[in-house]
This record gives sequence, structure tokens and C-alpha cells, in this order.
Amino acid sequence: MNSQNLSIPDQVREAAEALHTRLAGFTPAVGLILGSGLSAGSLPIEDAVEVPADEIPHLPVPTVVGHRGVWTFGKMGGRPVVVAGGRVHRYEGLSLADATLGVRIIRALGAGAVIVTNAAGGIREDLSPGTLMRIRDHINLLGDSPLVGPHHDSMGARFVDLSEAYDSAWWLRVAPRLVSKSISLAEGVYAACLGPEYETPAEIDFLEQIGADAVGMSTVPEVIVARQVGLHVFGMSLISNAAAGRGAGTLSHEEVLEAGRAAVETLGSVISALVATAP
Ligand code: HPA
Repeated sequence: MNSQNLSIPDQVREAAEALHTRLAGFTPAVGLILGSGLSAGSLPIEDAVEVPADEIPHLPVPTVVGHRGVWTFGKMGGRPVVVAGGRVHRYEGLSLADATLGVRIIRALGAGAVIVTNAAGGIREDLSPGTLMRIRDHINLLGDSPLVGPHHDSMGARFVDLSEAYDSAWWLRVAPRLVSKSISLAEGVYAACLGPEYETPAEIDFLEQIGADAVGMSTVPEVIVARQVGLHVFGMSLISNAAAGRGAGTLSHEEVLEAGRAAVETLGSVISALVATAP
């Protein structure tokens, strides 16, 4: 047990009640969990109200540069959204159950869908820096699951089906809108490694052989929990660098953040289209 020895469902209920009270019953349709270098500030959000993450009961707050610990509530294209800024990662030392509490809170607030983005290293040859990749499927190499621990039936199924974790019907709805904006997304399999160190070239060769196209340190836990609570999921990687051994030079977090800044406009357009077509 964790935060003040409350069960996860109790923590989620307290957090959602606090937010509902603070925001006069605001009910998001879509939740957004954004990766390195991206934040609500780069999205066209109307009537934005910000709530610092450390004012949301039980929510763990991040320690990584580039992850802002603020939740932003507002509208995109008239649809209510919440941007859960300030993702926390397994490598920060928390349990995955704690690190994914935000997803459960998004669901408890009433959302039906989540958009999850990340920065990732490109393994497949055509996934060069700056490419946006729709996540078609994932490989969990964290050696851990956010569903480990005490189970309560109100959390969803104990044994969660992930055979279609990423909503392909949503993709089919949004694709024509992207075509009309001349935006194309690559498609691939995302592998989540624990980190925080980047991979070795030998590890990247291994990941390629098992079917991974891109690699990062996040997203998979949130998607697992999203599926448990019945949220529709759209996942997207911004390829920020060639994976270790695949490009010239070494890898740095600064490079990852810079790629996020460079792609902000395109990502914003994609996210607007996703919100408009979200189930
Ligand atoms: N590896 C793991 N995580 C990452 C990378 C990478 O190359 N780039 C951005 N996040």
C-alpha cells in the first residue's frame, strides 16, 4: 500500500473528487499524456485552467527536466480535454502502480480516450529524427507491470487483454484529416526499456530482432492501465534520435528535448485532429 495507506481506488476517488470540486464538475472527453519536450503550452487549448500536480491528492510528481508537473484543463476544438503534464517514470524509483495513478484519475474524471506521446530512439532504418510514428503495438521490457500488486474489482480486469491495445478504428478516423493537412505518420512497434541509461548498440540489435521499431522508457505502463480501465488509446512516438549504434555520435537528453521543440507545430496539428476524432 502507498499514499497514506489508501488503496488505489480510494486514492483515485479522492483525487477525482478534489478536481471535480476545484473545476466545478469539468468532465474531460480526452486525456493527454505528453512526452519529453512537449507540454500543454504548445497546444491550442482554450479557456485553460492549470492545476499543479502536487495539489492533486496522491499524484506522484516528476523529477525529470522537460516534464512539467502541471495538469491543464480546457478545450481543444470545443471538446473538453485534460493534459496530464508531468509524467513519472519507473526509473525515478516509484512503483508502476503509483506512476500510472494519473491514468486512473483521467478515467475517473469521465474521459473515454487518451492520447499518449513520447520521444523515442529510431531503430528501423526509415525512422529518422523528426519522424512521427503511430504506435501500432508495444513490447514491455520493463520487467514490471503497473498491474502488479493488490487487485480491486473496481480497477477493471485482473488479467487485461492487450490484443488490440492501440485503437485502430480511431486511427482510421483521423488518417484522412492528416492527409488533408499533408501530415504523414509512420507506424511501428514501440519497446519500453527501464532506463534511465540509453541502450547499448547490442541491445538495439536485440530489440530489432524481436520486432521493435522504436525504443523509449515510458508509455507502456500508461497504456496497460488505460486498457484496464477501458480507455481508448492512441499512442505516438516522436523519433528524437537514431537509437544507439544506428547514427553518428552519442545520445543526449538535450537532443531529445530539442527534437520535441522542432516538431511542436506538427504534433499540435496531429493532436488537434486526434481530439476531434476521439471516441
Ligand atoms: N532510447 C531510449 N529512450 C529514448 C531514446 C532512446 O534512444 N530517445 C528518446 N527516449
